[in-house]
Amino acid sequence: MRKNIVAGNWKMNNDLDASIELVHELILATDDIEIGNTRIVVAPTFVNLQKVREISAGSRIEVAAQNMHQESNGAFTGEISSEMLLNIEVNDVILGHSERREYFNETDEVLAKKASKAIENEMNIIFCFGEQLQDRKSGNHFKIVENQLKKGLFHLTAKEFGFVVLAYEPVWAIGTGETASPEQAQEMHAFIRGLFADKYGKEISEEISILYGGSVKPNNAKEIFSKPDVDGGLIGGAALKVDDFLAIIKAF
Ligand code: PGA
Repeated sequence: MRKNIVAGNWKMNNDLDASIELVHELILATDDIEIGNTRIVVAPTFVNLQKVREISAGSRIEVAAQNMHQESNGAFTGEISSEMLLNIEVNDVILGHSERREYFNETDEVLAKKASKAIENEMNIIFCFGEQLQDRKSGNHFKIVENQLKKGLFHLTAKEFGFVVLAYEPVWAIGTGETASPEQAQEMHAFIRGLFADKYGKEISEEISILYGGSVKPNNAKEIFSKPDVDGGLIGGAALKVDDFLAIIKAF
């Protein structure tokens, strides 16, 4: 059975003290709540990753990196490899967030290499993709998403999808306060599952968790998560406040 996941992407927020405080609060708040098979993940900045990982050891909070480089080591100033993440016991990584694609020129080709590298090292990935507003307006959104998935992930073998969680994040909904309607999310998620069924078979496609991201808040999470092909959320702004993040987790 596929897992439900609520992942908080802290982006470039929270200094060390704030990261420690937030993860402590989350650990306490999630200690005894009934959340079935829901995984809770937080993604702090690189510089606070190790500390948050140490604090959350043994709790229900899992820790992911926000990015990684596709090479193991070498002359890549400012970059971090998957081996380095594993070395501090971080086994999960977000790849292809729209901010990485847009501001740091991460292409589908680079992301395909990053995905392969992470999986080669048995890391779990949360692979993000989604259309821009103009694509949605022109009716191109399905085609754009299909291309991102084909170029970024379809080189993987069926078995390798055991390491992959998908995150559909329409760019026009990220940080804007505007969400895709639950129907729009369901429509796209069903389309995505269909693509995987065509390429890898129904059994694999039914096992892949597909998260929705883009202005998920306590007041809309329940409705979005109630859709059959939405298996959780990748949360930005609302993941920075313990009460909001907790309310979203409890929406399951
Ligand atoms: P948001 O961010 O929840 O602030 O819209 C979502 C994301 O970037 O993953």
